This record gives sequence, structure tokens and C-alpha cells, in this order.
Amino acid sequence: MTIRTLDDLLAEEVTGRRVLVRADLNVPLDKQTGQITDDGRIRAVLPTLGALVQAGAKVVVCSHLGRPKGSPDPAFSLRPVAGRLGELLGAPVHFAEDTVGDSARSTVAGLADGQVALLENLRFNPGETSKDEAERGAFADQLAALADAYVDDAFGAVHRRHASVYDVPARLPHVAGRLVLREVEVLGALAGEPDRPYVVVLGGSKVSDKLAVIEALLPKVDRLLVGGGMCFTFLKAQGHEVGSSLLEEEMVETCRSLLERADGKIMLPVDVVVADAFAPDASHDTVRADGIPSKRVGLDIGPETVAGFAAAVRDARTIFWNGPMGVFEMAAFAHGTRGVAEAIAESDAFTVVGGGDSAAAVRALGLDEQAFSHISTGGGASLEYLEGKTLPGIAALES
Ligand code: 3PG
Ligand code: MG
Repeated sequence: MTIRTLDDLLAEEVTGRRVLVRADLNVPLDKQTGQITDDGRIRAVLPTLGALVQAGAKVVVCSHLGRPKGSPDPAFSLRPVAGRLGELLGAPVHFAEDTVGDSARSTVAGLADGQVALLENLRFNPGETSKDEAERGAFADQLAALADAYVDDAFGAVHRRHASVYDVPARLPHVAGRLVLREVEVLGALAGEPDRPYVVVLGGSKVSDKLAVIEALLPKVDRLLVGGGMCFTFLKAQGHEVGSSLLEEEMVETCRSLLERADGKIMLPVDVVVADAFAPDASHDTVRADGIPSKRVGLDIGPETVAGFAAAVRDARTIFWNGPMGVFEMAAFAHGTRGVAEAIAESDAFTVVGGGDSAAAVRALGLDEQAFSHISTGGGASLEYLEGKTLPGIAALES
């Protein structure tokens, strides 16, 4: 099936037309100050917005931010994002204080050719995420009424059957934006016949979030390296005690069966950094993975594990990495994530970083983004893509 692209839309006349761009501007905000702590997702959508501005379209950007409960909540306002987007575009972004109400309608009506507006958080309206087709459809009707064409550039949200992702494209001429195209091209290459050895590095806190992707990837990969909070459930499945580390007791059996079926492809930590408490200044040291003392909590993979993971990565031709190896937000427990990320950055392989957290880790640790072949803006979306699931946002563009 073919997806029409932004270039197809630009080849038609877009000057003066209202183009609704669904972006994923769900950026992390500092809880105290409300400041944007990582603007990667805003920068990722600039190529699409820039092209539309250049072509003289009236650009109406919409997005969700966080998970407000279907009504306005100032803590989740997109207003700061409008400011940052304007700085990056080098032109002011008109901000609508609602999503489909008076402010949205008058803001859009006031746009000159080549100007950009950002609507308030889509999730301030219950219709956005509703499971009820009619409720979602009614909201989609209102959104669609604001525009003449629709561009999906919200890769991070394509796995959501939400009004702005799934129902609006059924109501307007629709195309994929540059970011969505690039993401689908890169992840499609991983899902196809990636160059071998193909090494996948998985971290993050929960095994349950990653189970489906592990099942899907095991037959395809040469090695699957597991770190982060999720490694403790695997270590437990190997018969080790994990102290007070993160543990999903109900997943232990599943992990045991995965290890049995994995043909030795799964590599687990051989040493871990354990601490007295989950705190940046907690006293900590490195222990063997089969000797985690009770009452201590594992917060990072150890140096010998980093060396082993780095060696596996060095031999790879294709690498996909999703999820930090430890609590990288705390300097004492960032060495694992940094070490593995550096090894991935240094390799000559085709390297893809998947996900909000790992992408944010790359930037927070000051690593060179250019050293990776692709940094995905999708966390859940990239995993579901690799699982082979049908993604509602992509399906909507195909029809
Ligand atoms: C994300 O951050 O994973 C995307 O923006 C999707 O957000 P959601 O998980 O709240 O739907
Ligand atoms: Mg998510």
C-alpha cells in the first residue's frame, strides 16, 4: 500500500491552504520550573514545518503533552512549547488557548500565508483519546474543520488510536510528514533483513513493557543484551537473589521460558552497581550479579558488564537500542548507560536509538547525536513497529 507524502502535498498548490500537522511535541518538562528539559521532539518536526512555511501554507500544529484527563490542566499546557517552537523556526508561533473552540478558530482564521499556529493540548478534550468511536469522531470533525489537509508527523503517537492520529486523516486529504517517513524507513529496515550480526540492547524498568518485542525479536537477532531495571527479573529467573531491586515477580516464569528458548542469545549483566537507597548520594558499590546482598538495590550495570556489552556491540552490523541501562539521571548510576551508548556511537554499524528515554539519555549525557544513524522519536511506537503490530496512525495514512 502506498502512503502519500509531504512532497506529494507540496507538489499540489499549498499556498494559502490550511494544513493541520499532527506532531508529537510531548517533551519532558522540569516539574519545578515547567521548563522544557529536552527539545528533541520539537526539533524533529522542523523539516516538515519548515517546508510548509516555505510553501506558504497556513500551518496549524497540534499535539498532546503528558496525560491530562480530558479537561484543561495548566500543568500540561503546550504554551511553553509554542515559545520554543517559535525560537527554532525563527518566527513567532501563534498559540490557541483551546483545541477546537473560539480561540482555535480565530487563531487559525488570523493566520497569514506561511504563518504557524499551535493549538492547546489535544488531550484537554475527552474526544481525543475516547474509546467511543462517535465521541472520537465528533472531536475529529471539529479538528478537521480547522484545515484543508492533514500531515501526520507524530511518529511517537502512531500507535495510539486517537482522534488526531486515526480519525482526522479519514476526514481530510492526508500525507505522511518527513519525520514519519524517515522513522518508517529506518524501522522498516530493521524489521526486514538487517545486516548481521544484529544486536539489540534493551533496558528500562519493566519487562512487561518489553515482553512482546523480545518475543518478536528473538528469532531475528544474533544477540539481545538486557540491562536496566528489567534485568533483575531475568536474574531472578536465572535463580539469583536480587535484594530490593526492581522485580516483577509475576514475570519471572516468563523470563525463565524466554531464557530457555533464547539459544544463548540473551546476555545478562554479570555485575551490578548496588546502593543502600534509591538516591543520588546513596552509598554504593559493585557486586557480582549472583551476589546481590538482600536489602540493597541494583541501580546500574557494572563495569565488567559494560565491557561485555561493548564487545558485543563492536562486532555488530546493525544495532537497535531502547531503554537506559541504569538510573542515568543520577550521576553515580549513569556509567552503564554512558558506556553502552558510547560503544554504540563508536561502532560502524547501522545504529538506531529507539524511544523517548534513550533518546533523552543520549542528549542528557552530552553524546553526539550525529554519531547514531537514527534517533527515533517514538518509544512505544518504535517497539510496537518492531513487534510487527499494525499501527493505527500508519494504517490511517495508507487508506
Ligand atoms: C510518548 O511519549 O511515548 C508519546 O508521546 C505517546 O504518549 P502516550 O504514551 O501518553 O500516548
Ligand atoms: Mg509512552
